[in-house]
Amino acid sequence: MNIETNNKNIIMAIESSCDETACAIVKNGREVLSNVVASQIKTHAKYGGVIPEIAAREHLEAINMVIEEAFEQADIKPEQIDAFAGTAGPGLVGCLLVGLNAAKALSLVYSKPFIAVNHLYGHISANFLDSDIEPPFIALLVSGGHTQIVNVKSFSDIEIMGETIDDACGEAYDKVARLMGLPYPGGATLDKLAQKGNPCAFKFTEAKVDGYNFSFSGLKTAVLRVVKSFDEKDLPVNDICASFQENVSSTLIKKVRKALEETKYTQAVIAGGVAANSEIRKKMFALSDIGIKVHAPEMKYCTDNASMIASCAYFFKNNSTDIDTEVFSRVKYNEKIS
Ligand code: KG4
Ligand code: ZN
Repeated sequence: MNIETNNKNIIMAIESSCDETACAIVKNGREVLSNVVASQIKTHAKYGGVIPEIAAREHLEAINMVIEEAFEQADIKPEQIDAFAGTAGPGLVGCLLVGLNAAKALSLVYSKPFIAVNHLYGHISANFLDSDIEPPFIALLVSGGHTQIVNVKSFSDIEIMGETIDDACGEAYDKVARLMGLPYPGGATLDKLAQKGNPCAFKFTEAKVDGYNFSFSGLKTAVLRVVKSFDEKDLPVNDICASFQENVSSTLIKKVRKALEETKYTQAVIAGGVAANSEIRKKMFALSDIGIKVHAPEMKYCTDNASMIASCAYFFKNNSTDIDTEVFSRVKYNEKIS
């Protein structure tokens, strides 16, 4: 069944692709009326990573609560919602099913359009929240599962210019953090320690990868070699973190600059969980020195949330999605937005 979208002013969205059960209500793609996130980080921390079956079960336990809370915070009744959106992928299939089916059920019960959203474009859309930014721009998308340079030409035309050929940026952060015994997910902790260290203490060579692609696995091995060369008690954790962070952030920004030069755009945004990183943000914002308008989402909209999914449904979709749309675990390279 396909319900036509006539008016999508107020959208409720549900996000459950990994370890956050989230529901939000957003007006006109920019104004957040409610943003509820139930995190499972504590559950998965003891295993050092996300366990898919446990994550899916926790989504089931949390889903009704986050939906009710989102209605309550926004002081909005289900009848006032113009469309219900859900993340269809990429992500963990068992997890995605919980959120997407909840969004479908709400759409059927209240006879409102259903909109399936790609999680990656959702991250990019976090930039539209509480801002007035519009395409064209270059987006640096850095999350636990993806690292991409994206050319957002318009609300209906997006091109992935390059991506990682091995580990995602956040994955590299989490793995390097683990090498040094930091708790999962280690990205944010590594960032904090890096700020107290010397970024020039260790010279890690930059991966030479063609075009706009990235590779982080060699860097991870180089860090492992350094870690092994010290006794545990003498490990210069802060300096290793700072040197790793310097390498990652300068590699990312170099490619963003190259993409800006090629497209001649004057705007750049950053998206995904790693967009919360202090050094990557600092280097991105320094692009304003060469006349680039840089935008980054508020910290709470960098990591997984449902407001970004609602915004994506509003801006990047001009039609409702078939109610039979299925979840998917991976994206095909340069797949169409809708
Ligand atoms: O976007 P996200 O919430 O989930 C995915 O869609 O993957 O990103 C989570 C990732 C994790 O790898 C986490 O360690 C990383 O974002 N992260 C950070 C920081 N905050 C979160 N990485 C580096 N520096 C940070 N401050
Ligand atoms: Zn994400």
